[in-house]
Amino acid sequence: MCGIVGITGHENVVTDLVEGLRRLEYRGYDSAGVAIVQTDSVRVIKQQGKINDLERVLPWDELHGSCGIAHTRWATHGKPSKLNAHPHSSGALAVVHNGIVENYTALKVRLEGKGHLFRSETDSEVLAHLILDQYDGNLETAVQRALKLVEGTYGIAVVHADEPDKIVGARRGSPLLVGVGDGANYLASDVAAIMGHTRQVIYLDDGEMVVLTPQDVTTMNVDNQEVTKEIQEITWDLERIQKGGYPHYMLKEIFEQPQTVLDSFRGRILPESGDVKLGGIQLTDRELLAIKRIIIIACGTSWHAGLVGEYLLEEYARIPVEVEYASEFRYRSPVIEPGTLCLTISQSGETLDTLEAMREAKRRGAKVIGITNVVGSTIARESDCGVYIHAGPEIGVASTKAFTSQVTILILLTLLFGRRRHLGIEIGKRTIEELQRIPDKIQQVLDQSAAIRAIAEVYAQHSNCLYLGRGVNFPIALEGALKLKEISYIHADGYPAAEMKHGPIALIDPNMPVVVISTRDSSYEKIRGNVQEVKARQGKIISVVTEGDTEIAAASDHVITIPETMNMLTPLLSVIPLQLLAYYTAVIRGENVDQPRNLAKAVTVE
Ligand code: M6R
Repeated sequence: MCGIVGITGHENVVTDLVEGLRRLEYRGYDSAGVAIVQTDSVRVIKQQGKINDLERVLPWDELHGSCGIAHTRWATHGKPSKLNAHPHSSGALAVVHNGIVENYTALKVRLEGKGHLFRSETDSEVLAHLILDQYDGNLETAVQRALKLVEGTYGIAVVHADEPDKIVGARRGSPLLVGVGDGANYLASDVAAIMGHTRQVIYLDDGEMVVLTPQDVTTMNVDNQEVTKEIQEITWDLERIQKGGYPHYMLKEIFEQPQTVLDSFRGRILPESGDVKLGGIQLTDRELLAIKRIIIIACGTSWHAGLVGEYLLEEYARIPVEVEYASEFRYRSPVIEPGTLCLTISQSGETLDTLEAMREAKRRGAKVIGITNVVGSTIARESDCGVYIHAGPEIGVASTKAFTSQVTILILLTLLFGRRRHLGIEIGKRTIEELQRIPDKIQQVLDQSAAIRAIAEVYAQHSNCLYLGRGVNFPIALEGALKLKEISYIHADGYPAAEMKHGPIALIDPNMPVVVISTRDSSYEKIRGNVQEVKARQGKIISVVTEGDTEIAAASDHVITIPETMNMLTPLLSVIPLQLLAYYTAVIRGENVDQPRNLAKAVTVE
């Protein structure tokens, strides 16, 4: 998704802006550009493609300036192209924009009538002309006046050659933060872009603006009232967003899971009482008991984690749960009764559909717990209370470690709610003991990566794949299918295994690989039958079974084992081979694993 970097106060900002853009590459983009403030003008250079393509066309010798802005674009209005790339300029002003200007057609007609010449097909370009139209020597005033006319969402950074060391930023619905430096200040849509320069950040909220010069940071709202903001310290390391010897971020993140799952529950479990303590959830036991129904809101992989949560919370905490696609929830008229708790799950904490659905739930009176990874993200800040999953920065567009950490938090929440209801101390203690063994067990699955790669070699050139699971492994089938299609572009579907006979069975022939998650639990006998149904039609069976299993293994073409564990914790193990299978398949097919086509890490548009 689009990314913004702005720097004022470096001797020459060009290299550092490009470096900042590189740190945003993981978000997915199709073009990039920079605007450097020079004497009397703002020089804009942009290019379709990757940062390397931009670097090739940058006239390095001619570009000098201590203030500039830069952008990676992910097309929404207008195709990926050099003209549509940001920054957009008008006269001596340039702007980069994340978000969508909904009334851009009306604004454009008005500005064209005043002589403004538009060059791109984007909604964003209108901002450059609109702000210039309002400009009479003070950039922040022009931005304030212009934004009053804008409908839609934005995170913007604006420069003007007449105020050569100034950057103005503003936010509504699209993340923006300020990096506070020493003799230089920074603006970015993602902290990764500026972490090489400073760890002191200010997160802007909707309706807020900032004016940066090398010496000063002034925060205000669009009505020009000064706003006092807290400076926060980033405590994690830049190392953590680098590849650490792995060929891809995705593989690194898959292999980090023994540690990241541990990080998610460490310091939060109470082994003696079979209970948990989640510092971010400021609810009394009485308030916890008053919860009558839970609605889980999320998108994509986070939605799959939510489905796992539904199984766990209903079975072990005995609370009715519904899992909603955020994009659907926000436009329905959802019934929120007293006692409804909303769990909002989002790795990035910036997914627009999830954020808006959460706001809708709040408007209707629900209490909201945000389960996010990115500290200081909008969902984290706007939820009533929350739990960070502590998975560390996830760079690969295909989510892996965030999923297992989200599931870990849902297990902890199940214990929290369950122990205040029907879940006895013994099962609580047993679950916690077993949870502590899970990191080692994940490692045992990872140790089979060579064998999983060999399976991927067999099926990498197939065009379809079916994933089947039952109970708590049904969401894992969905997640396995999503991982495969996202990065290998193979069509894949996940189904509850018994549902296969109601349609998908028609697809099964000797060319159809079917991944069956058939661990030893209460549905084992049933799924054994489903495996036979596939076998009878000569489908190719890749089974994920519990260690020691011989029956399903005997009926399968390929077998991957996971260590035995409690049913509640199975998803933390059964998803790992599916992540690896998708990863190796994409690598064998030569695809861009970390930045799959058309996808973005944080989907901050509707
Ligand atoms: O940041 P979020 O968890 O809110 O993102 C939700 C989805 O966009 C995300 O999970 C997406 O499906 C991933 N590409 C999955 O790998």
